[in-house]
Amino acid sequence: MKKKELEIRLQKLDSHPDPSPELEQYMTPGDVAAGLLYLARSHGSIEGRGVYDLGCGTGRLAIGAALLGAGTVTGVDVDREALRVAEKNAERAGVEVEWRHADVEGLELEGADTVVQNPPFGVQRRGADMKFLGKGMELAGEVYSIHKATPKNRSFISRHVEELGGKVTHRIEKDFHIPAQFRFHTRDVYRFKVDLYRIERR
Ligand SMILES: C[S@@+](CC[C@H](N)C(=O)[O-])C[C@H]1O[C@@H](n2cnc3c(N)ncnc32)[C@H](O)[C@@H]1O
Repeated sequence: MKKKELEIRLQKLDSHPDPSPELEQYMTPGDVAAGLLYLARSHGSIEGRGVYDLGCGTGRLAIGAALLGAGTVTGVDVDREALRVAEKNAERAGVEVEWRHADVEGLELEGADTVVQNPPFGVQRRGADMKFLGKGMELAGEVYSIHKATPKNRSFISRHVEELGGKVTHRIEKDFHIPAQFRFHTRDVYRFKVDLYRIERR
């Protein structure tokens, strides 16, 4: 499947009917999701591989991995409503994904080949993003993860990944937008930069 087609298919998936600001429940824009999945694909980390999507929400990354030929895909989220939408989205996309209701903290799963994730940025709950990174690196040798692009975040993530025994091999900056969806949003759309990371466990 061409990247553009993947982007369009992911963009069309249903969103959460009542997103929670505390859980930072915004969807990854189709182009960003496709960008992360193609980065993973270019390293041979999707096709035929065991893939986890941590904080899968309504399933864009998990479904995208399945559409690109992953061997098995498991999406994990703490919110049942998000998983209900994800399940319907997967059915409509014609792919199989196992959906798990669990908190990433304390999550116990067998190891996989690859983790793809767009964790909360840690704006509402400080450190939430780092918990996802740590869990991702515990579960798989390769982690593809989306984080807010700020100089402080960049150096913090590199250091944290090193401390956890890994290495950032790629960091790609992308535009990200969230349409107004929370009561405190006063603009139609919020635009900012994110980084797509590829992390290898040593
Ligand atoms: C930024 S959204 C990304 C959603 C989806 N991955 C996507 O790309 O569209 C973050 C997701 O992490 C989930 N989440 C937040 N804290 C969590 C936790 N402790 N354990 C599991 N999921 C969590 C939220 O419910 C939300 O669906």
